[in-house]
Amino acid sequence: MESKRVLVTGAGGFIGSHLSRELYQKGNFVRAVDIKWDNYIEEPYYSEKDTLDLRVWENCIKATKDIDYVFNLAANMGGIGFITEVGAEVMHDNVLINAHMLQASHINKVERLFYSSSACIYPTYRQTDPNVTALKEDDAYPADPDNFYGWEKLFTEKMAEAYKKDYGLEVRIVRYHNIYGPEGTWKGGREKSPAALCRKVAEASNPGVIEIWGDGKQTRSYCYIDDCVKGTIMLMESDYDKPLNIGSDRLVSIDGLADIIIKISGKNVKKKYNLLAPQGVRGRNSDNTKLREVLKWEPQVSLENGLKKTYEWILDQVRK
Ligand SMILES: NC(=O)c1ccc[n+]([C@@H]2O[C@H](COP(=O)([O-])OP(=O)(O)OC[C@H]3O[C@@H](n4cnc5c(N)ncnc54)[C@H](O)[C@@H]3O)[C@@H](O)[C@H]2O)c1
Repeated sequence: MESKRVLVTGAGGFIGSHLSRELYQKGNFVRAVDIKWDNYIEEPYYSEKDTLDLRVWENCIKATKDIDYVFNLAANMGGIGFITEVGAEVMHDNVLINAHMLQASHINKVERLFYSSSACIYPTYRQTDPNVTALKEDDAYPADPDNFYGWEKLFTEKMAEAYKKDYGLEVRIVRYHNIYGPEGTWKGGREKSPAALCRKVAEASNPGVIEIWGDGKQTRSYCYIDDCVKGTIMLMESDYDKPLNIGSDRLVSIDGLADIIIKISGKNVKKKYNLLAPQGVRGRNSDNTKLREVLKWEPQVSLENGLKKTYEWILDQVRK
């Protein structure tokens, strides 16, 4: 993708900023839109920067004016602590952002709209065991997402499908599985497990102790940001308009994740368990059969290499 006029919403956030940078470096015109900007993200990574609240209809019309491709990543979201606690605000804000962005993209005749859905749409009853069977795209129904955030994502997937059917808007829909890497939220309550564990280990004394949420046996898979950006652009350029997983299919327990980070740190850190803390579904993994079929590709960066870069970046932030 080059020489396109691209809008990235949520460009002040983690995935949005990395994606904007890649698109900008490839020679596209990139309009970066967000409601707020974090000063730890390295500039330049956009052609134009607009601070807009995308819950407001007029702002979505403004953002999508003279744009070919929309990457709609803006969302009120956070890690398991945040999305377990906050329901109404998350659903309210995200349904407004997404409904307005779809309609504004239709009115302003954008060529394509990319929507960032989530592995959180998958039903709870398929994720009750740490040795979970990896989730295929078709497993989404009958629906029973674990949290309100997931229900809103599932609703917007359907809404995107309706815009394709009724108005011919070309949509691309991804279900990201736990994306991690440098320049993501790492403190404040919205951070996700890899960033939270990197921060805890970076802040721990040596020898020291960190707290693990739950019993540590819950499992997930983690995809490094460079793979996420690559897959995102490939999916946007493809002809595939159904939801597609982008994630790693290497299952790891939270304990295992913490152990890798502790090893990277070189510290002598022990783990203690907080059984009252939120931990989400018991196990979740990505089935990449469809991904391989559609994009002839799957994530490449190993968890050890990705976590090393993430830990070093977070250690740097902690020291600052
Ligand atoms: N990171 C993951 O593991 C993951 C997994 C599944 C899905 N996703 C989805 O990918 C997208 C990007 O996620 P991220 O990890 O970069 O999150 P993030 O929180 O870092 O980025 C989201 C950005 O949206 C912005 N935003 C929120 N409300 C807004 C509003 N009203 N107007 C304009 N901007 C607003 C935020 O300020 C933030 O910068 C989100 O839609 C998220 O739901 C992420």
